[in-house]
Amino acid sequence: MDSKYSEITPRILELTELCLENSSIDLELYKKYKVNRGLRDLNGNGVLTGLTEISEIQAFDDADGEKIPCEGKLFYRGFDIEALVDGFVTEKRFGFEETTYLLIFGKLPTKQQLGDFASLLAQYRTLPTSFVRDIIMKAPTPDMMNTLARSVLTLHAYDTKANDVTIPNVLRQSLLLTAVFPLFAVYGYQTYRHYFEGDSLVIHTPKPELSTAENILYMLRPDSKYTELEARILDVALVLHAEHGGGNNSTFTTHVVSSSGTDTYSTVAASLGSLKGPKHGGANIKVVQMFEDLKRNVADWTDEDQISGYLRDLLHKNAFDKAGLIYGMGHAVYSLSDPRANIFKKFVKSLSEEKGRTEEFRLYSLVERLAAQIIAEERKIYKGVSANIDFYSGFVYSMLDLPLELYTPIFAIARISGWSAHRIEELINAGKIIRPSYKSVALKKPYVKLQNRS
Ligand SMILES: CC(C)(COP(=O)(O)OP(=O)(O)OC[C@H]1O[C@@H](n2cnc3c(N)ncnc32)[C@H](O)[C@@H]1OP(=O)(O)O)[C@@H](O)C(=O)NCCC(=O)NCCS
Repeated sequence: MDSKYSEITPRILELTELCLENSSIDLELYKKYKVNRGLRDLNGNGVLTGLTEISEIQAFDDADGEKIPCEGKLFYRGFDIEALVDGFVTEKRFGFEETTYLLIFGKLPTKQQLGDFASLLAQYRTLPTSFVRDIIMKAPTPDMMNTLARSVLTLHAYDTKANDVTIPNVLRQSLLLTAVFPLFAVYGYQTYRHYFEGDSLVIHTPKPELSTAENILYMLRPDSKYTELEARILDVALVLHAEHGGGNNSTFTTHVVSSSGTDTYSTVAASLGSLKGPKHGGANIKVVQMFEDLKRNVADWTDEDQISGYLRDLLHKNAFDKAGLIYGMGHAVYSLSDPRANIFKKFVKSLSEEKGRTEEFRLYSLVERLAAQIIAEERKIYKGVSANIDFYSGFVYSMLDLPLELYTPIFAIARISGWSAHRIEELINAGKIIRPSYKSVALKKPYVKLQNRS
């Protein structure tokens, strides 16, 4: 391949120096001008930028006007996520389609409405003729988030009402994307396996009677076989990843981009770009890779001192990717606990027993406890730190034999329902382009003619 697509030349390094020299802002200026870096206040709380009815995150109790960190709670359209999951798991139903209905339409479906909605999604779950061959299989990449984003952008060309932002059209596009996301991701992965790994090319057509979770496993596995437990746990993972307020990075992106009046495909592609980041949806891959590194570097998985030493090395940028982060820990909003991680943990335990991986489960539990203590000691934590959903999701996916390349796309397959609900809410209510301000701290300078510059 042409070296300009990968090589960092000395010239580029030289120009990078210029960027660093002239684009580094003194951190004190943020304090001076009271800028909410990362749109957060000094306590790390998000700046209020909108109203939503779609979901609510609770991480603090209000006691006489004082905010006290509490166990985390998450509500979808007013319903506690724990009760929702408990409801469909107890009734042995799949929950993702019901959750999508709830998020987009604001109410729990009746049995009839749920059946009709699942049929509607099944009808939309097909791609235009030759789309797999002409789009997904062209320029294959090991990065399925890239495959997803360009498939979404290319679908624009097949939609005769692509730029129509009226609500019925946006709803149609949203349901279409919700239905075809698993196809984009899985077919992109099969293409990668074929072209990069030399495996046989497997393209299974989804089945209309299967749930989203079942179809993912059905299309992914060469023999299309999966156990009920596997499909149900993947379904729970989709429900837990479906929505998380308006302020998370990718959903806020949905609001920002939607507010400009642009089309659904451009909006969703932008949100995918955000979700891919390792501080957002990309964290689950990092968690698994971090644990692989830990297992290589820590001789005794039960020795707390050895594990603590490794975790401190992570924070001191001496281990793994040297980013100074313990992946899967901490959250921008939650403090004492992330309810999604707690729900997940219950399933992880039973799955690890079934898969004979209890030793690893014990290791995860130990890291969860020690990491919280060590981050609190080493960083300025105002609100407490605990395991987030990504801490266990990577472990679950590895027990489900899902490939690493699909971890973040599975998050996207789930989160498209939250993005859709927020895009529709933005279009119905806001009407103003989102446009915050930046204060310039550059000095004013007189223009210098080209021949006079040094
Ligand atoms: C999610 C995350 C970005 C939230 O960061 P935040 O909003 O700054 O959270 P807090 O305000 O509680 O953090 C306070 C400090 O602790 C640090 N911190 C929080 N979690 C940390 C972690 N897992 N590892 C190392 N440091 C961490 C933050 O970087 C911050 O330090 P700073 O003030 O020097 O920037 C952060 O916890 C993180 O990077 N976690 C690891 C990646 C991850 O798991 N992401 C998935 C999120 S669902």
